[in-house]
Amino acid sequence: MQKPVFLESHQVIQSSALFSEIEAGLLAEQASISPKFLYDALGAHLFTAITLVPEYYPTAVETGLLTQYTSEIAAAIGPDPVLIDLGAGDCKKAALLFESMKPASYVAIDFSVDYLKDALEKLQSQHTDIPMYGIGMDFSQTLKLPTTISQTPRTFFYPGSSIGNFLPTEAQALLAQIKREALGGGLLLGVDLMKADDVLQAAYDDPLKITAAFNLNILRSVNAIIDSNFDVSHFSHKVMINHSKERVELYLEALRDTSVTWGGKQRLFKQGELIHTENSHKYSIASIQQLLNRAGFQSLKIWTDAQQYFAVIYAK
Ligand code: AVJ
Repeated sequence: MQKPVFLESHQVIQSSALFSEIEAGLLAEQASISPKFLYDALGAHLFTAITLVPEYYPTAVETGLLTQYTSEIAAAIGPDPVLIDLGAGDCKKAALLFESMKPASYVAIDFSVDYLKDALEKLQSQHTDIPMYGIGMDFSQTLKLPTTISQTPRTFFYPGSSIGNFLPTEAQALLAQIKREALGGGLLLGVDLMKADDVLQAAYDDPLKITAAFNLNILRSVNAIIDSNFDVSHFSHKVMINHSKERVELYLEALRDTSVTWGGKQRLFKQGELIHTENSHKYSIASIQQLLNRAGFQSLKIWTDAQQYFAVIYAK
């Protein structure tokens, strides 16, 4: 049986660096935990569950766009692309593209490597003719591909509006790195667009409380990494829409005075105090165009749905 090649040793995700990153966030006046810690094994599964929740429109709308415009997208990209999937997760969206674009090879990158492994092995068994590579990497810092990956023009695939997790300045820097690493190829990007508050509110605070579980699970994920003692039952999921910053913000709110201790350190939280866990920036067509242009992409093809909820963009 054909097996995907895992290039895990490329970037050893240093546990001491993760420890200091979490510690700094917990000790800051406005406590925060980076959203990448949402995706431990359980978190990755909870996120997949979110994508199936009807109120969470981004996945359904983007999948619709990728399906409806699959041949236009494949034509824009050109034949036999080396497809590099950033934050591949369950690899479902890339698999959608395989029908119309026969990639020369497929490189799946994700922070959550164990989850990726299962998904990629399954995909490889369904497409034995496509060479596949898996990489465990935190590309939010630097995006540097191992030299094993073909040096020919590359097509990056960054779906799901994951770009929205970054501040616009950071997003621009990441897009510029992608532009450089594409070696003359391009980027297929999924971006969530600004919309009415009630639609956003329902998407990020769904009635089944899957998003609440996903957000709260970050405390368990942190407990496992720094050996802390967060009591999940002392917090609740909170969503705020920040209009001036054009983003949805996720927090965990302390339901009572509580504390967390780890490695001789402690943080107290007053009742009502918030831990920031995620930003999900929403763009307009004009603002994402500007960001891509500033990152060095000159030519853009844009596909959106009738409601203008989401955009899929091919940038070169
Ligand atoms: C994977 C970052 C795109 O911001 O919509 C979903 C994560 N958080 N529900 C998003 C998320 C809460 C998601 N991204």
